[in-house]
Amino acid sequence: MHTRQRGLLYLFAILGLLAMLAAGTGALSAAAPNGTASITAPANNATLTGTVQVQGTATANNFTFYKLEFGLGANPTSWSVIGVLMTTQVSSGNLGAWDTTKVPDGQYTLKLTVVDNTGNYLTAAVPVTVANAGPPPAPAVPRRGCTACHVPVRPDGRYSLGWEAMNAAKAIGINHPTVSPSGISIKPTDTVGPAPCLECHGAGSGARADNGVVANLSLRDIVHPAHMFSDIFPSEFKGNCFSCHNVNNEGEFMILGQKVDVNENGIPKVLPIPGMLEPT
Ligand code: HEC
Ligand code: HEC
Ligand code: HEC
Repeated sequence: MHTRQRGLLYLFAILGLLAMLAAGTGALSAAAPNGTASITAPANNATLTGTVQVQGTATANNFTFYKLEFGLGANPTSWSVIGVLMTTQVSSGNLGAWDTTKVPDGQYTLKLTVVDNTGNYLTAAVPVTVANAGPPPAPAVPRRGCTACHVPVRPDGRYSLGWEAMNAAKAIGINHPTVSPSGISIKPTDTVGPAPCLECHGAGSGARADNGVVANLSLRDIVHPAHMFSDIFPSEFKGNCFSCHNVNNEGEFMILGQKVDVNENGIPKVLPIPGMLEPT
């Protein structure tokens, strides 16, 4: 009888201890506060770049502050606070911003902790991946031939050769022709090489030696300064003489009349180069 009572006492004592353990921090901390800690964005396993707005809810009875933290990996052993401790509750709103460019690319856990005035707290966490480096840049292939650069890329035809002609002529108060003498349409929205242009802007001879065959200016005298004195043609477009020319065996500066399929060194893949024009 005595032993059984003592056994029951031990049993209650053990149950009591288990109950305290089950309460998490046991006697040192009461139950978690009533409230909500949740992160709705970024989503679980999201890939993050740049500055990320963290969305969610951080509320509690007797709310004191919340904080956002990140730690390395899926189960961080240490945490870094993002920004400052926030003393205003947020319900379905912006919890704060995380500038992910300040950390190396990798796997992180983003954590929200909502703390009440007794030091009890609620947490929510999402695993994320920071990937700011992006894919390695594609090798820059040199662009050769007028239509490697001059094709319509906007509804108005910008930057086709027809658009360049119209745009430059407009600047000197002229409506540029939209068809060549042989009947090729050179409207801004057309994709054409320099052949129809040379019907009027080919190099003249005799009395017209300094002019185009029909137009006042030769194409050479238009495009050489326009490109060689441009800021963007040599830098942004890596342009040079061989963007427009290929020198043949006789040392002639042939004109690349259409986009040339080249390797990363600018060497044509198809020979003889299709669409090459003899200079006028
Ligand atoms: C590698 C790219 C590239 C190639 C190839 C190229 N261009 Fe250009 N072109 C440009 C750029 C860039 C500009 C604008 C330059 C600027 O505004 O600084 C331009 C401008 C022009 C203009 C406008 C000139 C003006 O006065 O407004 C004409 C016309 C033109 N190009 C014709 C040609 C012709 C004809 C060819 C082929 C023989 C050619 N381009 C080849 C990049 C190129
Ligand atoms: C039917 C003849 C004709 C054709 C074809 C033609 N042009 Fe013109 N272009 C002219 C005339 C005329 C002018 C006015 C100024 C002049 O006589 O040079 C002019 C002016 C220009 C100008 C302005 C020159 C300046 O003084 O600033 C540019 C640039 C131009 N053309 C480029 C082109 C291009 C590029 C092509 C081919 C898409 C082309 N043109 C086709 C006749 C033509
Ligand atoms: C944007 C294109 C472009 C660039 C860049 C360019 N050219 Fe030209 N070049 C032309 C065009 C168009 C003509 C006129 C072709 C015609 O009249 O048949 C020409 C004509 C010439 C001619 C006259 C051909 C002949 O035998 O009469 C020579 C030489 C020449 N270019 C050399 C050069 C050199 C050198 C460079 C570099 C410093 C250069 N070009 C850059 C487009 C270009």
